[in-house]
Order: sequence, then structure tokens, then C-alpha cells
Amino acid sequence: MIFFKRVLARINRVLNPPKNIEEEFHAKYYYSKVWSETYFLGKKVFKCPNDLWLYQEMLWELRPDVIIECGTFHGGSALYYAKLFDMMDLDGEIITIDVDPMPDMPVHRRITYLVGSSTSSEIVGKVKELIEDKKKIMVILDSDHSKEHVLKELELYHGFVTPGSYLVVEDSNINGHPVYSGFGQGPGPWEAMEAFLPGHPEFVPDKTKEKFLMSFNPNGYLKRIK
Ligand SMILES: C[S@@+](CC[C@H](N)C(=O)[O-])C[C@H]1O[C@@H](n2cnc3c(N)ncnc32)[C@H](O)[C@@H]1O
Repeated sequence: MIFFKRVLARINRVLNPPKNIEEEFHAKYYYSKVWSETYFLGKKVFKCPNDLWLYQEMLWELRPDVIIECGTFHGGSALYYAKLFDMMDLDGEIITIDVDPMPDMPVHRRITYLVGSSTSSEIVGKVKELIEDKKKIMVILDSDHSKEHVLKELELYHGFVTPGSYLVVEDSNINGHPVYSGFGQGPGPWEAMEAFLPGHPEFVPDKTKEKFLMSFNPNGYLKRIK
């Protein structure tokens, strides 16, 4: 199955070549898979360093009380946000959710781990309880990247985002935006946003967050403007 997927990815790359130098670099970087061997203090973080740096700038600017993260994996991203809060001397917390987290998740006083599907009523109920007294809330969707799942998460979690803060839809670069295009791929986060945004004018993609020229989350930094 993995071999078949790799062959399809190669064919897709030939059939859908990059359109400009930014896309060319994005493709080169993405298919190198080095993002899956990126670490923060020894913990794997499945992110592009450009986006990690951007989160640092966003946390400094926004100073959220809590980040709700769907998709924990090894807990590297949760630890990164926690350490940023430490360095910034803020009272921030992270609630991170995974249906099948890795066994080596870091322990940190700011991180609360919830185990279960991000779209289950039990998990959404627990999140609601945990954020009851929070004033500035940011949400990051980084779990199952199928359109169907991301759209469900968008519907369930957008209401938690406070005005002026962000709902980040990660990995919107797949399914041809600009990587992993063509047959063999399916609609993903980009397509979920296309379905969600027309009914939610309170959220607008903040293109200034793509200033580093390559982001794994194109159009995915959704700012709540009202
Ligand atoms: C891309 S990884 C998360 C990466 C992590 N945020 C980071 O930056 O290192 C996606 C994670 O989502 C989890 N996942 C998949 N489906 C899920 C679901 N329905 N609910 C919650 N988590 C899910 C997977 O188990 C996996 O650990």
C-alpha cells in the first residue's frame, strides 16, 4: 500500500509540476520529508519551521490564555507552545487531543492531554469545561486531515475562538495546494475551509501569516474578526 502511494505521488509530481520558484521549493522541501524528522527539545514536531516561528510571533502578539490543539502525536508542538509561554512569562495553557497519542508525551504543568477523537461529544464536552473561564482562546486543527474530519472540527471548534484570535487549519497544502496533487489524493483541509468559510464571515484567512513565502497552512490562518 505504501509502495503504491509512493508511486502515485511520483506520477503526480511529474504530471503536476510546480508553477513558480516558491512552489518548486515547497515541493522540494515537502517531498524530502525532513519535516517528519524535525525536533523541538528532542520531541518530534510535524511542522515546517517557518510555521513554528510564526506561532512564536502569534503567541507574543495574541497572548492567548489557552491553545486547543487537535492532534498531539508525540506532544512536540504542545511542548513548544508550553515553553514559549514559559519564556514569555504568560499564564497560557495547552489542551491537546489525540485519538491515538504516542507513549512518550512530555510532562509539563501547562499541558492537559485528552485522549479520544476530537469530534466526539465526550471530548468536546471536556474541552468546554476546561475553557469555561478563559478569555482569549486559539484553536489549532492538526489531526486527521481529511475534508470530512476537518469540516466537522471546524463546525465543533470555531465557536471557541475568541474575537481577534485565530483558528489555524494545518496542512492545507495537500491535495495540490501546492503538494500532493492529482489522483490518489482526496479533498483535505483546504477543501474543508472552502466549505466552511462562506457560512462564516467572522473568519477570514490572514495572508500576512504567509510572509515566509512557504507555509504548510496556506489560507489556513483564519482570524476571527468579529
Ligand atoms: C499530524 S499529527 C499531529 C502533529 C502534532 N500536532 C505536531 O505538530 O507534532 C496528527 C495526529 O492526529 C491524530 N488523530 C488522527 N485522527 C484523530 C481524531 N479523530 N481525533 C484526534 N486525533 C486524531 C493522530 O493520532 C496523530 O497523532
